[in-house]
Amino acid sequence: MKRLIVLLGYMGSGKSRVGQELAQRLNIPFTDLDQYLETRLQMGIPELFKSPGELFFRKKEHEFLRDLLEEETPRVISLGGGTPCYAGNMDLVKKATPNSFYLQHSIPSLAKRLESERDHRPLISHLRREELSEFIGKHLFERVPFYTKAAHSIPCDGKTPGEILVDIEKKLV
Ligand code: S3P
Repeated sequence: MKRLIVLLGYMGSGKSRVGQELAQRLNIPFTDLDQYLETRLQMGIPELFKSPGELFFRKKEHEFLRDLLEEETPRVISLGGGTPCYAGNMDLVKKATPNSFYLQHSIPSLAKRLESERDHRPLISHLRREELSEFIGKHLFERVPFYTKAAHSIPCDGKTPGEILVDIEKKLV
């Protein structure tokens, strides 16, 4: 059986780190959708957001996700933080696999994790440290309805990547 596992959640929620470790443990390939897109388009995400712009990014993100989900290879895929919220992407994910996981963090946890990482994230690079929590709170409010379409929500506050892995592995089919 083709085993496809999709990890999603807000920026800074550990999707790539956990995805990489999970893939290693299961001995299957790992693909970070952001990195895949940057490699295929030969351009960094901050540059892409500047020009040709976010709409172009979202179209490509959708196309590459669709292609990856259609492949016959088993794989762990980490989505970008916004991927679930555009172009019917969660419907594609749900159709492709029962193994989708929302890595769920509280607003304070995300604010702490993202504090030092603003520079290379185009959606939050303009924010001052003290503006981060409010921005994340509003943004999450819009996004949670998409994130919670995942088959499973994994509470992640205060957990190590190893502990999160164990929680995911228990739920894999
Ligand atoms: C985005 C999250 C980023 C990246 C892009 C847009 C978002 O991915 O796809 O900057 O809309 O939340 P990460 O969640 O991997 O940082």
